[in-house]
Amino acid sequence: MRILLLGSGGREHALAWKIAASPLCDELICAPGNPGMADLARCVAVDILDNAAVVALARAEKIDFVVVGPDNPLANGVVDALAAAGIKAFGPTKAAAQLESSKGFTKDLCAAAGIPTARYRRFHDAAAAKAYAATHPVPVVVKADGLALGKGVVIAPTERDAVAAVDLMFGGAFGDSGHSVVIEEFMCGEEASFFALCDGETALPFGTAQDHKRVGDGDEGPNTGGMGAYSPADVMPPMMVDLVMKRIIQPTLAAMKAKGMPFKGVLYAGLMLTDEGPKLVEYNARFGDPETQVLMPRLKSDLVPLLLACADGQLAHVDAQWTDDAALTVVMAANGYPGVPHKGTVIDGIAAVEATGALVFHAGTARRADGALTAAGGRVLNVTATGKTIQAAQAAAYAAIKNLHWPEGFCRTDIGWRAVARETKHR
Ligand code: AMP
Ligand code: GLY
Repeated sequence: MRILLLGSGGREHALAWKIAASPLCDELICAPGNPGMADLARCVAVDILDNAAVVALARAEKIDFVVVGPDNPLANGVVDALAAAGIKAFGPTKAAAQLESSKGFTKDLCAAAGIPTARYRRFHDAAAAKAYAATHPVPVVVKADGLALGKGVVIAPTERDAVAAVDLMFGGAFGDSGHSVVIEEFMCGEEASFFALCDGETALPFGTAQDHKRVGDGDEGPNTGGMGAYSPADVMPPMMVDLVMKRIIQPTLAAMKAKGMPFKGVLYAGLMLTDEGPKLVEYNARFGDPETQVLMPRLKSDLVPLLLACADGQLAHVDAQWTDDAALTVVMAANGYPGVPHKGTVIDGIAAVEATGALVFHAGTARRADGALTAAGGRVLNVTATGKTIQAAQAAAYAAIKNLHWPEGFCRTDIGWRAVARETKHR
């Protein structure tokens, strides 16, 4: 089978690594891909937000199956465009991808289906939003409705901050994403990422993880796209997984089907584990980044039949097998990130990192004409290691990183700290 994978981040490199290892995969093509993916697949420079160009590439390469990595092409309707051309794809339609692309859509769906989430109101004008914020106990959470690269969320400790956030969003700071604003109750608890493969009707639990969104050790400092992750999430034992499936995932699938927009693909639930039980923070309609970099090394099953089953409505007939080992990934970012990252610096030592047994998934890297690997983005590499415990995986990942020579890059030194503290306490 000829497979086309869309995307170019660490998540896509991890997916490419699993797909390329599948006996079902005759050729893997990545668009646009990255230098790490180029070792596993043929990379083609195509604008993945240009649906016609993606369809043309799939036709020219006689692609049997397209796997969509990031959210933007999904929200842009690439799966619909491929379906119209008779090409099978993994991922939701544009309508179903609203679970990620519109927070208001998801909040309304949760309210109608009784899915536990923060209480909220949705506003289309600033005055009404501010009046509501004035009467609401702080902290409140102010969110731009649409995709804002994870930056459209403000946790406002005071009413003044809430008003400023409302002005910022309606003032166009997030473009079209800010035309509508959601104000919601602040939920207290620990966060976890939960994944479920979906075929429109059936959902298959597909792993748990926790990520670290803040740039600094101790989860301090500004938000990022994610500085590291580990799997499984120790706060998500099987009983909690069952509860999330029953209270959150299954009602969502049923509601989407009833709306005539069955969800096919991977549903990534950002959860808050509160005293009142698990609540939904947000949905993503794609795999997590950097969570995928810890899920794929733990997945024993062939990924390709599982993704195909989502597209074909056959999930009830497949199963996923996982290792009991833990996996942990540390993101190496370029100095300056999450502000303006310094680009073009040379990275050495990847082979030495890999020689320890660790996996290196590329994100913002580039290959210079002379063959040198350089930094080309904010988050640049993901170093993933496995072990019997999170602590062992953590030790292996940081030992591996010592072999990397990239003075212009940095990483957090404490990825997995909560889980490691709990492991040490229980031993
Ligand atoms: P989102 O883009 O909706 O995932 O929000 C980004 C981050 O903001 C989440 O991962 C949480 O850490 C935080 N957050 C969002 N909504 C809430 C909420 N209602 N209560 C507490 N924290 C929240
Ligand atoms: N790990 C955060 C995300 O993928 O959105």
